[in-house]
Amino acid sequence: MMWHRPEGFRLGGTSRARLRVWGLTAAYGPVQVLRGLTFEVKPGLTVILGPNGAGKTTLLRALNGLIPRGGDAILDGEELPEKTHEIVRAGVSLVPEGRQLFGQMTVRENLELGGWLFDRAEREQRIEQAFTDFPKLRERALQLAGTMSGGEQQMVAVARAMVSRPRLLMLDEPSLGLAPRMVDELLGMVRRIADAGTTVLMVEQNVKKALAVADRGYVMERGELVASGDARLLARSTVVREAYLGAQDSQTTDARDAVQRRQRGQGTATPVG
Ligand SMILES: Nc1ncnc2c1ncn2[C@@H]1O[C@H](COP(=O)(O)OP(=O)(O)O)[C@@H](O)[C@H]1O
Ligand SMILES: [Mg+2]
Repeated sequence: MMWHRPEGFRLGGTSRARLRVWGLTAAYGPVQVLRGLTFEVKPGLTVILGPNGAGKTTLLRALNGLIPRGGDAILDGEELPEKTHEIVRAGVSLVPEGRQLFGQMTVRENLELGGWLFDRAEREQRIEQAFTDFPKLRERALQLAGTMSGGEQQMVAVARAMVSRPRLLMLDEPSLGLAPRMVDELLGMVRRIADAGTTVLMVEQNVKKALAVADRGYVMERGELVASGDARLLARSTVVREAYLGAQDSQTTDARDAVQRRQRGQGTATPVG
């Protein structure tokens, strides 16, 4: 059995949200990390690529109100709120780096946390729908999340985020540390969530696989977006091929290798698309 229903996801709805961002800035104390990013997250699946330390997590944290942001962010014509709980109410949900489940709580209890903004009856309904959309989780409902494998926990984290009925789902490196088969299933699942109508913004280190499932991508380096475009064009572009995919086109090549190659002086950033 797959982790998700192949028919698609009913939890997220079909709103095909759009986020427009102008001049996004964020800093840790005096250290400016995001240097005025302007970009658009269109309906479908958008991926953000880039080396370790580029500011990808900071971007997601800023858009989810976990750190202060500057600039403008408009979700479907309305300004994105600043406080996290209001951002969740506005329809944005984040699957954070490292999943951050409550390990001493059951799968069901973790899903209940995703439904905090609903009353009890609606929350129960949403969790029942989660067990329909993610059938394997029904079998695991009473298992402590901390006793699951990394891949299984990631599925719980995605389901928890979907319980809050996001119009825009954000994921921070969901494939990190997962076995290749699990990476494929997870990315396939994210693709289906986007197909069902929930807009997705995903940060990924697994460049090749991410571009294979995404509609569009951005490449981020040192707090700036250095390339963007259609995922298929990006995968063929010089900036991504030289910096991220490597000459041998290896399955295991990721952005961390790319930084090392770049530090050895290969590749220059050229916007595409
Ligand atoms: N809590 C923090 N305090 C200070 N600096 C931070 C903090 N988190 C991240 N940084 C710095 O911000 C930069 C971007 O980090 P991050 O957004 O985590 O990058 P990425 O997710 O692309 O690997 C890095 O230089 C990192 O050291
Ligand atoms: Mg990160």
